[in-house]
Amino acid sequence: MKSDIEKLADCLMESKYAVALTGAGISTESGIPDFRGPGGLWQNVDSTEILSREMLYYRPEHFYSSGLELLNIMRNKDPNPAHKALALLEQRGLIQCVITQNIDGLHHKAGSKNVIEVHGDLRTAFCDACGREFPFEFLLSEAEEGIIPPKCTCGGIIRPNVVLFGDPMPPCFEDAIIQAKRADFMLVVGSSLQVAPVSYLPRLSRQIGIINLEPTPYDRAAAVVIHEKAGSALTDLIKVLDERR
Ligand code: APR
Repeated sequence: MKSDIEKLADCLMESKYAVALTGAGISTESGIPDFRGPGGLWQNVDSTEILSREMLYYRPEHFYSSGLELLNIMRNKDPNPAHKALALLEQRGLIQCVITQNIDGLHHKAGSKNVIEVHGDLRTAFCDACGREFPFEFLLSEAEEGIIPPKCTCGGIIRPNVVLFGDPMPPCFEDAIIQAKRADFMLVVGSSLQVAPVSYLPRLSRQIGIINLEPTPYDRAAAVVIHEKAGSALTDLIKVLDERR
């Protein structure tokens, strides 16, 4: 009887164009709490309120204090074995890209090259009037000096380059749709698959596999479901693939 990890290895080796879709659960082993898992960030706060467009424009002092504090938790962390395993799968041609909901930049740090950050990143900020780009650190320094909201020389508000609740999805989401449609296999890692429109992406791929601690709405439709920690599951997957080389 094949293990689920061996079945997952089969799916990847048999696929012609596999992609990965990741969520906050792949970064918890790097010290970043997820949103909806037990003890997640949003267990005590309402994400749809704090990191929202409405909060940014109508209560900027709250956004640039609590919101920026939440975002800052995600910065300057290190990739864990799960991120590194996905980078290795890409190097070996077993996955073609990583679509991530995470803004922590850990896939890039782990060496993944083709990463689509559909919820933005914590490297940059931009003026919402003229679009001028600023380093994220500029936001932090302005907020620390009490300049809230940080303003551009054109008078516009400078905001983080993350997708806030109420924002439209960024243009790169179109790329994610194309990749999901092209994939004959999508490996979902560490996402509750509860937040649209990203939660619709797995429907576009021919087959899916899931590595997630808790059940997801797609478990029944998946070819393989592994309710384990991403770090150990993906490390085991690499071991199985190495044995087949
Ligand atoms: N290994 C595997 N799965 C894990 C691990 C782990 N080490 N740690 C947590 N998980 C699982 C949790 O059980 C949970 O089901 O990861 C999932 C994370 O789900 P969410 O917290 O909902 O995160 P995500 O799916 O990325 O949320 C999507 O919602 O708040 C918005 O913009 C935010 O990008 C985020 C989006």
